[in-house]
Amino acid sequence: MAEAYICEAVRTAGGRRNGRLSREHPADLGGLVIDAVLDRTGVDPAAVEDVVFGCVSQIGPQTFNLARTSILSSHLPVSVPGVTVDRQCGSSQQAVHFAAQAVLAGSQDLVIAGGVESMSQVPILSAMTTATKAGMLSPFAGRKMQERYPGQEFSQFEGAEKVAKKYGVTKDELDQFAYDSHVRARQATEAGRFSEELVPVEVELEDGTQTTHDVDEGIRWEPDLEAIRGLEPLAEDGLISAANASQITDGASAVLVASEEAVKKYGLKPLARIHTMAVVGSDPTMVLEGPIPGTEQVLKKAGLSIDDMGVYEVNEAFGSVPLAWQKALGADYDKLNVNGGAQALGHPLGATGSKLVGSLVYEMRRRNERYGLLAICEGLGTANATILERVE
Ligand SMILES: CC(C)(COP(=O)(O)OP(=O)(O)OC[C@H]1O[C@@H](n2cnc3c(N)ncnc32)[C@H](O)[C@@H]1OP(=O)(O)O)[C@@H](O)C(=O)NCCC(=O)NCCS
Repeated sequence: MAEAYICEAVRTAGGRRNGRLSREHPADLGGLVIDAVLDRTGVDPAAVEDVVFGCVSQIGPQTFNLARTSILSSHLPVSVPGVTVDRQCGSSQQAVHFAAQAVLAGSQDLVIAGGVESMSQVPILSAMTTATKAGMLSPFAGRKMQERYPGQEFSQFEGAEKVAKKYGVTKDELDQFAYDSHVRARQATEAGRFSEELVPVEVELEDGTQTTHDVDEGIRWEPDLEAIRGLEPLAEDGLISAANASQITDGASAVLVASEEAVKKYGLKPLARIHTMAVVGSDPTMVLEGPIPGTEQVLKKAGLSIDDMGVYEVNEAFGSVPLAWQKALGADYDKLNVNGGAQALGHPLGATGSKLVGSLVYEMRRRNERYGLLAICEGLGTANATILERVE
């Protein structure tokens, strides 16, 4: 049977909005993670058959096919093509799926999948402004969609509240989870658990100082549960606050996906095999519920149960998403986002999927766990889910 292996996984440390990565061109960040994959694997750059990158806001510096501009900012030869995909917050998880599907189909042997987002340079939702007509809540919704969903904004903030309400996630649980995310991220950083995945970035700060960016900038080193509890919710009577939302972040990540044949030919060391993939759509007005049916579907396809999963990453787009997921699936809080998540480390939209593939792979290997699961909620209700299997 054909196999698709993850042979390397790298990421930049997350940069806070207007922070250390904010002056880096997104294509330079993309080129940097591609080069890190090439350097670490020693694979022949000309043998890479495609680069599939995720990016959500494909305008300004992120336009004109960011995968290709990243290739042209890397050591890959011009013969390597590239394509940029938008599956919203799961874009680079989808990039990994597309790469794996090409390899499993026998159509390609070596594909780099990854993603980039500079949320400082291209703010979230900025692509929405170009087509806005007066009175139109959501410029992406045409007449038929507006007739079907009258007055709907499809807002992720509303979705986060709705998901909390539907699954009975409380304010106390959200506050504790936000706090735990920072504690776990700090502990992981101090223990060097991100050292395999991180690629240092040499950056010039606004005052002209040169520095190395190699630590996630969003972590609160002394998180304060009382301060989290005291934050004003974003909406009146709401549960969602700045602490339990994912942070606005700049970053890039990439993985190498290889066939069995490429592993042998290039002497690669597989870290995990892509065991099962799923992608689903769910109610777009709930926006963020997709990881639940996505996980149900991927487990069913794999013939496995949630208890078979040794560790899981469910993106902390908002704290209510993984907590609702945990309740619905009967999953174990102690196996969920064990090194912190987007509440502490940030959520550089297009880069998050392949970033979390890497974090999951390295944690499965540290824990000697056979299976790991990744699920990400995506705008308008879609979700990707992936089961990885550790390879010795
Ligand atoms: C929620 C959101 C609007 C908050 O934006 P913001 O107000 O600029 O948020 P910040 O992170 O700068 O935090 C503002 C303040 O809240 C307080 N705060 C935030 N997190 C805190 C925490 N964990 N503990 C204590 N105080 C905290 C601080 O006072 C902070 O100011 P400081 O960083 O100068 O200390 C923004 O992060 C956001 O849009 N997130 C979601 C992004 C998104 O939709 N992604 C896609 C998912 S579907």
